[in-house]
Amino acid sequence: MTTSSSEQGVSLGMPQLPAPAYPDDVRARLEADGREIIARYPDSRSALLPLLHLVQAEEGHVTRTGQQFCATLLDLTTAEVAAVATFYSMYRRRPSGDYQVGVCTNTLCAVMGGDAIFESLQEHLGVGNGETTDDGKVTLEHIECNAACDFAPVVMVNWEFFDNQTPASARRLVDDLRTGAPVEPTRGAPMCTFKETARILAGFPDERPGAVEASGGAGPASLVGLRLAKGETAPARVVHPRGSSAPQDQSPTTEHLSSHDAPQDTSASDPAHPAGPVAEEGE
Ligand code: FES
Repeated sequence: MTTSSSEQGVSLGMPQLPAPAYPDDVRARLEADGREIIARYPDSRSALLPLLHLVQAEEGHVTRTGQQFCATLLDLTTAEVAAVATFYSMYRRRPSGDYQVGVCTNTLCAVMGGDAIFESLQEHLGVGNGETTDDGKVTLEHIECNAACDFAPVVMVNWEFFDNQTPASARRLVDDLRTGAPVEPTRGAPMCTFKETARILAGFPDERPGAVEASGGAGPASLVGLRLAKGETAPARVVHPRGSSAPQDQSPTTEHLSSHDAPQDTSASDPAHPAGPVAEEGE
């Protein structure tokens, strides 16, 4: 006797119904915000990443409705939008908590205690990777290296850093998040919810008093880049090649925006280390 696919609980992968539309008032508000984002780019499709953050700020994850909204606004197909939304891990694909607690379990953090922290939080919260506590407050996740290895093991909450954690400090952290006790990241701006964070990532100002100052603002190179992007002339900032000191006769040709732009020693400029064919014998 054979059983049908539905009896076996097997999905036939039938096409889904069209995504439901946003209510008119929500759509009008998102469309105004979306047009503001698109206007920042010479090519509208470049606005897709911030637009995905915008719809994530509305619903807490990127829904099919959100993808359809982005596609319509940017004149893309929903397949094109879905390809991007499913590629980047910063976009959530299912509802989750107010606080995304990411434990770095990349190599350095893992050996410094990240694996132990993750196991401890799984047990303490009663959830696994990518799962959310019953109160809807915390989603626990493994995360990859966040370039904060010097502070390993690192936990991130809504992309704010909590450095040098231990299993005990991480358990306290999630308890405070769940009870609403004040929580201060090790550095950076004060905590806000995942939806609020998503709106900031969409490119809207963080209007909380002192938040921008607390995050340290943009560095000099970013500000120079912003001016250049706006077509302004940025003042040259003199940075000398790494490892060298300022010459006495500073000339415009030795000015560089960063030490990475500055010419590094090469075989041509460094006679002490000439390059050239090396014989098999090393001569
Ligand atoms: S390995 Fe954890 S921040 Fe780099």
